[in-house]
Amino acid sequence: MIGLVFLASIMIFIVTVLQYKEESEDYHKKRLLRKETAVKVHINSILENTSFEVKTDKLKYIFKSNGSMRGLSSISELSRIHKMPINIYDLKGNLIVSSLWHLGQKHDSLQHLPPGIIKLIDKSPDKRYVIKHEGKNGEYQSSYSYIYDRHFKPIAILNLPYLADSTFYKKELWEFLKNLGTIYILMFLLAIFLSYFLSRYITKSLNTVNDVLKKISFSKENQKIIIKNPNEEINQLIETYNNMVDQLEESARKLAQTEREQAWRNMARQVAHEIKNPLTPMRLSIQSFQMTFDPNDPNIKQKFDEFAQMLIEQIDLMSKIASAFSDFAKMPQAHLQEGNLVSTIRNALKLYDPEQVRFVSSDDEILFNFDKNQIQRVITNLVKNALQSVPGDREPEVLVSVRQTEDKIYITVTDNGSGIDPEHQSRIFEPKFTTKSSGMGLGLAIVKKIVENHNGKIYFNSDKEMGTTFIIEFDK
Ligand SMILES: Nc1ncnc2c1ncn2[C@@H]1O[C@H](COP(=O)(O)OP(=O)(O)O)[C@@H](O)[C@H]1O
Ligand SMILES: [Mg+2]
Repeated sequence: MIGLVFLASIMIFIVTVLQYKEESEDYHKKRLLRKETAVKVHINSILENTSFEVKTDKLKYIFKSNGSMRGLSSISELSRIHKMPINIYDLKGNLIVSSLWHLGQKHDSLQHLPPGIIKLIDKSPDKRYVIKHEGKNGEYQSSYSYIYDRHFKPIAILNLPYLADSTFYKKELWEFLKNLGTIYILMFLLAIFLSYFLSRYITKSLNTVNDVLKKISFSKENQKIIIKNPNEEINQLIETYNNMVDQLEESARKLAQTEREQAWRNMARQVAHEIKNPLTPMRLSIQSFQMTFDPNDPNIKQKFDEFAQMLIEQIDLMSKIASAFSDFAKMPQAHLQEGNLVSTIRNALKLYDPEQVRFVSSDDEILFNFDKNQIQRVITNLVKNALQSVPGDREPEVLVSVRQTEDKIYITVTDNGSGIDPEHQSRIFEPKFTTKSSGMGLGLAIVKKIVENHNGKIYFNSDKEMGTTFIIEFDK
């Protein structure tokens, strides 16, 4: 836009200057012709009234300019009246009289017509020729034409040198250009102003679109674009985007549903499997007990006790499995509430022997938004694992710590156990991964889920000799 205005102004300037020049040339051409006509009329009247014979060689007497015969018909008088120099040549091109003589200007160059001029006059249809050349003070035009006698026979050549004075035109042109310039500068400013706001308006809406597009994600709800009075193209873009968000939401919803269904199917399969496992030995023992049951056996009481004991153990195991799964299944959304993390952890640790599980914290109070029950479950799970990791020939030493920095909160659980086998390290957070005969492998899966519900991270350092440290990191 700015470029266009700039280009237009430059072109207008050029055209104006050219136009003025042409006009001024035209003006001077016409003016010269007018003057020439006037001079000729004057000359003709002199020729009509002269007492001399009208012939080439008498002209120098008729228009004589010097001496006592100087009168109204003298060439200098003529020149004065018409306000321009006048030269008269004979038909061969020799100067007869000149108004410049009495000014004492006797130029040699004036004595003869420039060569070829007579031919040029003859050739031109109006028997007239104008020479143009640029001089110091402007453009010179010099016209040459015949002077005729009564019978229209050429008797001499009239030469009128004319200085085209274009100062007036130049002044006027300058004035005009100044006005035009002012208008164009205003237009230019307006163009800058308009294009600035227009482009800002367009880029602003595009930026909004861009920002929202950057944030688009499949997993969370996407924001729709709302821009006040957008232009048509942007509006189309926004509508397309908003429709896409709707479709995306629908697909994400469907996907989530399928995922949930899949997860539940897996879960149900696992629960069934886990419950079936102890059922088979139970069934076998009942069958064998039934077959070997002898009410007269003196050891029947003891056998029955053993049998009952075995059944109770299996039932307990099943109930343990059931509650572990239900724990894992009922992982409700975290109800975040601001509270003191230090006291929550301290309370969770009350169940344990303070000799074995020690607790340290950087502050008496660390305020944080968390779900109290879930964080307590995290701590108990980690501490339980820590205690379990310590071999029987060692005294367990578990250290739980909580500390805060400028923008983070760290909870660590360190044990002096046997460490995590490097082979297993990548799998310990998987549900159902366990290295324990009675383990469910759900503890760390639950812990991880809870920590992620709090937008936190969990990781660990483990060493076969030194034990393991689990670190939880929350953003404040
Ligand atoms: N503090 C620890 N030290 C050593 N190994 C650990 C520790 N915590 C967890 N593990 C390993 O991670 C596995 C998974 O733990 P978890 O998910 O709590 O299931 P479970 O305790 O039922 O085995 C454990 O079986 C164990 O091998
Ligand atoms: Mg565990």
